[in-house]
Amino acid sequence: MDLLIVGSGFFGLTIAERAAASGRKVVVIDRRPHIGGNAYSEDEPETGIEVHRYGAHLFHTSNPTVWKYVNRFTTFTDYVHRVYTNHRGVVFPLPINLGTINQFFQAAYTPDQARALVHELAGEFDAKDAANLEEKGIALIGRPLYEAFIRDYTAKQWQTSPTELPAEIISRLPVRYTYDNRYFNDTWEGLPTDGYTAWIERMADHSNIEVKLDVDFFDDSQPLNKAAAVGQLPVVYTGPVDRYFDYAEGALSWRTIDLEQEVLPVGDFQGTSVMNYADADIPYTRIHEFRHFHPERADRYPTDSTVIMREFSRFATHEDEPYYPVNTPEDRNGLLAYRELGKGEKDVYFGGRLGTYQYLDMHMAIGSALSMWNNQLA
Ligand code: FDA
Repeated sequence: MDLLIVGSGFFGLTIAERAAASGRKVVVIDRRPHIGGNAYSEDEPETGIEVHRYGAHLFHTSNPTVWKYVNRFTTFTDYVHRVYTNHRGVVFPLPINLGTINQFFQAAYTPDQARALVHELAGEFDAKDAANLEEKGIALIGRPLYEAFIRDYTAKQWQTSPTELPAEIISRLPVRYTYDNRYFNDTWEGLPTDGYTAWIERMADHSNIEVKLDVDFFDDSQPLNKAAAVGQLPVVYTGPVDRYFDYAEGALSWRTIDLEQEVLPVGDFQGTSVMNYADADIPYTRIHEFRHFHPERADRYPTDSTVIMREFSRFATHEDEPYYPVNTPEDRNGLLAYRELGKGEKDVYFGGRLGTYQYLDMHMAIGSALSMWNNQLA
């Protein structure tokens, strides 16, 4: 074996694939019973509808190197992501655009009129002096739109009032002065034609790659544990960086999500893939309906049942899956301390969203793995 990779998400699998293609023998371990990390998907058994087990995953990128690379393993559908939000029982398009503004104010503003209105409403606070997220939100888009679409949704995401959240959590709140409600601005977007798991399996399908599931790197009873491996061969570690050092510099804080999946006896529950719930009286942040990610599978999917997933957000404990870095000033100091400790680990390479304590979209995880392979490992 030439290389041990801890974690079979997109970061770990990209390194594994590159290493195997250049003749290295690689072992990939994962503590979960499947490969693919958080991008893993499976067909819901009753309906056959593909469900993203760890929350909805939409692929999008403007990076030509990444786009070329991923197309070696899968083709993509022409799915274009759009999100809507329910506020007081009325549905509005997101991100906030001219359609949202005109519906909200019951008006027919031109782009210039809408821009002038938002500018006037935003004058209540100066973004530079905002003392908390609420003041920043109002300074960016004005109080009415902030209170309708941002305040309660943000409070649900963080389980904290925006008046107690730091202003720097948001740097901008995009408002589009056209009716364009495409969610992503990237050059390429789509969903893997045969699903995420087929894509992921093709990346790992090489005689130089051995995958071992249900294996935890910190379980001393299994042969590829930390104590046995580090120093003996190069290790790419994509698990949580604080866990690697046994929380020596404190635990970094994360948000997690709880997902509540349900099969409903209707052909179409909400008419779209993602519906946000902007108000405080609905405890979940959004509902995903998975059939709408693949309209091209209409002839394969049932017409009398559908799969939905309600998403709830909260702070993570050690037992939870870490999903989004909270990134407080203490976290940033902790991360710097862990980076220093990391420099002392011989031949251990920290990567991926958990290993670097960074929110990474899939194309970013793949792009940074390609860079690590080319610049440090190859
Ligand atoms: P990832 O978390 O996928 O993989 C890490 C692996 O390491 C896991 O399989 C884990 O089990 C394993 N591991 C950890 N500790 C271990 C140990 N001690 N021993 C063995 N194995 C261990 N991106 C995007 O582009 N579009 C999108 O729409 C979304 N949506 C989205 C929704 C939600 C809810 C989240 C949390 C994330 C997204 N993402 C996304 C981001 C996407 O999930 C992310 O880019 C990839 O998961 C990153 O891949 P990694 O390999 O870095 O981590």
